[in-house]
Amino acid sequence: MNENILELKNLFDASIAKVLDASALDEIRVSYLGKNGSVTGLLKNMGALSPDERKTYGKDVNDLKNYISGAIDEKLIYLNEQALKKELEAMPEFDVSAPVDTDRGSYHPITLVQRQCENVFRTMGFTIEDYSEIVTDYECFEALNIPKFHPARDMQDTYYLENGQLLKSHTSAAQNAIYKKYKKALVEEGKPIRAIFPGRCFRNENTDACHENTFFQMEGVMVDKNISISNLIFFMKTMLSAVFEKDINVRLRPGFFPFVEPGFELDISCLICGGEGCPSCKHSGWLELCPCGMIHPNVLREGGIDPEEYTGFAFGLGLTRLAMMKYGVKDIRDLNGGSLANLAQFTEDK
Ligand code: PHE
Repeated sequence: MNENILELKNLFDASIAKVLDASALDEIRVSYLGKNGSVTGLLKNMGALSPDERKTYGKDVNDLKNYISGAIDEKLIYLNEQALKKELEAMPEFDVSAPVDTDRGSYHPITLVQRQCENVFRTMGFTIEDYSEIVTDYECFEALNIPKFHPARDMQDTYYLENGQLLKSHTSAAQNAIYKKYKKALVEEGKPIRAIFPGRCFRNENTDACHENTFFQMEGVMVDKNISISNLIFFMKTMLSAVFEKDINVRLRPGFFPFVEPGFELDISCLICGGEGCPSCKHSGWLELCPCGMIHPNVLREGGIDPEEYTGFAFGLGLTRLAMMKYGVKDIRDLNGGSLANLAQFTEDK
């Protein structure tokens, strides 16, 4: 083998043997194999050689190149293994007999209010339903008396999938399926439909202290003969006083939703500022908590229920808002932030 090549190989062997970490190894890689590296430099001598010599010389340089890059790769694996070994050795030994860490964290404020609401409604004969987060345009809008191009869709801009499905913008998206599921028992056995369906909802929203693109609602519906607005008010009041464990100021305002007629906004007085006005209540002293109303005949009909015979109410409780009120969370973004330190301060419940 050509002297220069041999010399370079020996030089390389000596220097790689001394390398202790990956960055020094990388320097070696550059100094040998880089554009201006020594191996590349060897090729510059080729011009002075005869064609025959050139052949073997070229092959030897190439072999050296492969040898060096192989050696560097191997060394890198070795160095990484060593580093891991060192790290593991520095770790304290795992003691299986050590007492369990009793600080297990806390339930999320939304989980807690959701369970409370579920318990209240369960005692009033409501079933608790689960529903998907990805729904069709029909479920989310069409079945709810919101045809395509209806302006009410503007308020519920959400995230669309390429196949036309969407992330549900409200729990009302489950209404149609619930009516269809229970209509037989309603008509044939005279069993009223009483269902709540909590769920995560999504909207294309600019976030601030009281708006989030991901939030929780809990929908409730009751359908039977002779259901009226006073039934609706009774259920809402019972639920809210149970959750807050005190009398809550509420007000009903007219509200428009295409799937209820008449429709209302049920507001509660802001518990964070006591009704004085603060960023959480948009400085109004009231928090929109529960839009509601009597189910629109078109919606009942679409669910297979005769609106001439049956009536019902529906409400869409803002679970996220409720959790904020109950636990004094001033900024809605804290709820999705995932910071345990932030969330744990709101509740001790484990
Ligand atoms: N789904 C409506 C919303 O999220 C709320 C609502 C539910 C209104 C049920 C009336 C009845 O905006």
